[in-house]
Amino acid sequence: MCGIIGYTGSKKSVPILIEGLRTLEYRGYDSAGVTVAEGGRLATVKSKGRLTDLEARLEKSAELLGNCGIGHTRWATHGEPSDTNSHPHATKNLALVHNGIIENYAEIEEMLKGAGYSFISETDTERAANLLDMFFCRSKDPLDAISHAIKVIRGSYAFGIIFKGFEDTIYAVRKDSPLIIAQNDEGGFIASDIPAILAHTNKYYRLDEGVIAKVGAKEISFFDEALAPVEQKLETIDWNVEQAQKGGYPHFMIKEINEEPEALKKTLEPRIRDGLPHFGIDALDGDLFASFSAIHIVACGTAMHAGLVGKAIIEKLARIPVNVEIASEFRYRDPILNKNDLVILLSQSGETADTLAALRHAKACGVYTLAIVNVIGSSVAREADSVLYTWAGPEIAVASTKAYSVQCALLYLLAVRMAMVDGKLTDGEAKAICESMLTDIPTSIEEALKLSDKICDIASKLVAAEHLFYIGRDIDYSIATEASLKLKEISYIHSEAYAAGELKHGTISLVTEGTPIVALTTVSKVCEKTVSGIREVKSRGAYVVSVCSSDLAGKYDIPCDEMLVIPQISELLAPFPAATVVQLLAYHVSALKGLDVDKPRNLAKSVTVE
Ligand code: M6R
Repeated sequence: MCGIIGYTGSKKSVPILIEGLRTLEYRGYDSAGVTVAEGGRLATVKSKGRLTDLEARLEKSAELLGNCGIGHTRWATHGEPSDTNSHPHATKNLALVHNGIIENYAEIEEMLKGAGYSFISETDTERAANLLDMFFCRSKDPLDAISHAIKVIRGSYAFGIIFKGFEDTIYAVRKDSPLIIAQNDEGGFIASDIPAILAHTNKYYRLDEGVIAKVGAKEISFFDEALAPVEQKLETIDWNVEQAQKGGYPHFMIKEINEEPEALKKTLEPRIRDGLPHFGIDALDGDLFASFSAIHIVACGTAMHAGLVGKAIIEKLARIPVNVEIASEFRYRDPILNKNDLVILLSQSGETADTLAALRHAKACGVYTLAIVNVIGSSVAREADSVLYTWAGPEIAVASTKAYSVQCALLYLLAVRMAMVDGKLTDGEAKAICESMLTDIPTSIEEALKLSDKICDIASKLVAAEHLFYIGRDIDYSIATEASLKLKEISYIHSEAYAAGELKHGTISLVTEGTPIVALTTVSKVCEKTVSGIREVKSRGAYVVSVCSSDLAGKYDIPCDEMLVIPQISELLAPFPAATVVQLLAYHVSALKGLDVDKPRNLAKSVTVE
């Protein structure tokens, strides 16, 4: 995820900017850059790659001695990682760093072309920089330019800006992307995250949405959109840098689970236009959806489990047959692929060797390939015919959580879009689902997160287990597969996911007094059947944890020892809060066992070898 730092004061800015960016490295980035104001000019140095690459460039260029500067680490969202696409983006009159995604960048580009502007990068940020430039040329007033620009811009942004003629001041504004402002005896700071300022002060202002900050060396002032002065609350923090990097959470995994509502909004909002799925931001041709007679979803691990959710929902809504394949099998087993098939490659990293090989195999067979990937410019993203980015931000914990939720969400959106092609869903029905996805999924996950303490209590009863089963039917079984993987990989407890109706065909012989079983029941048409399965294991002494939807909990007498009722949401979307609940369960078991939650043994975040 991108990082921002800015400093203006009595010291040289470059060392402060580099040191601040270094504290943000953990968030992941693919390029970095700084702009420093000196001698009436704005000098920008930037580089693809690591901060050390930027430092090497800074050493080669004339020494930047100025006391006011902005710095950025970029995690690509529009345009691949490159020198040109990295930030800051400079115009004749200003330099800008940006976190977030500008949704209407194409409209802004058109408007600016009409005013004679041209562009050198593929980024949404360069369009924003030039928009600010255009307004600044009219008024020569930074505050006026910002207030005009933010009326035009749609999307999320945290901006740090230095204007020519105002070279000792940093301007900042934000929407849906965090930004903090701070000051000490030696100057003023802006930053996207607390770790970047902790070496200088533990007091900061969390900038409210729409408030413009004017940060000088000795004075900070805040203005509302009408440019009237406003107050911001000064806060104090007593975290160290490591705690701050984890946002105050004990582990990255729990931080990332808590980021799910925001990640889902970032993934979905830009792709819902006039209430309907729209993949214009991905340059995906709408006609594409009419052309496929079968779909193969190919992935590994958690991403493959998201594929199982995708299969359930695409087949339900669009009635297109979907085959979910483990990439390491697909690549060697000579799968039957027809020219009207679509192969979807799901991958958080976009670098998983098996998924990449499967993609190449599908392409060699002449089949259309669509990547759903979290890392911009990754190998899978580059090589597929089309790509949808999940925009979950970097995932640091090895155990994938928020990336899974956003993969599922994009597959839901594709399912709705495909179902609209030949009227399997009317526009009205599709709109209702999209609306509910945008609002109810994040809300229900926020509610699910509030169950964390109760889930921790239940986890304390599972820590001594040697093995455990997750059961469910239909889409609950898909969720169970991921729940089981999550527990295994971080708690080292052996676990299996079973279709609830399949236990009696053999595995039930393993169920004895106290065997823990987590039973998922969110699907009404099979709930009664799952409940029968639960009775069978309960009568053999199983310790049952029920994860169920509130409607079904009220309707059926679910025999269990513990019950986790997921927050109210339509049955169609229940997998989202249910997934959060089982992720939390795995997390708490691992944390209570005192294990290395974020870096479980033998595992790597990205498996780039066979
Ligand atoms: O980066 P990818 O999504 O392609 O990775 C696939 C799997 O290696 C990954 O999901 C793995 O299963 C995770 N550790 C699960 O939490």
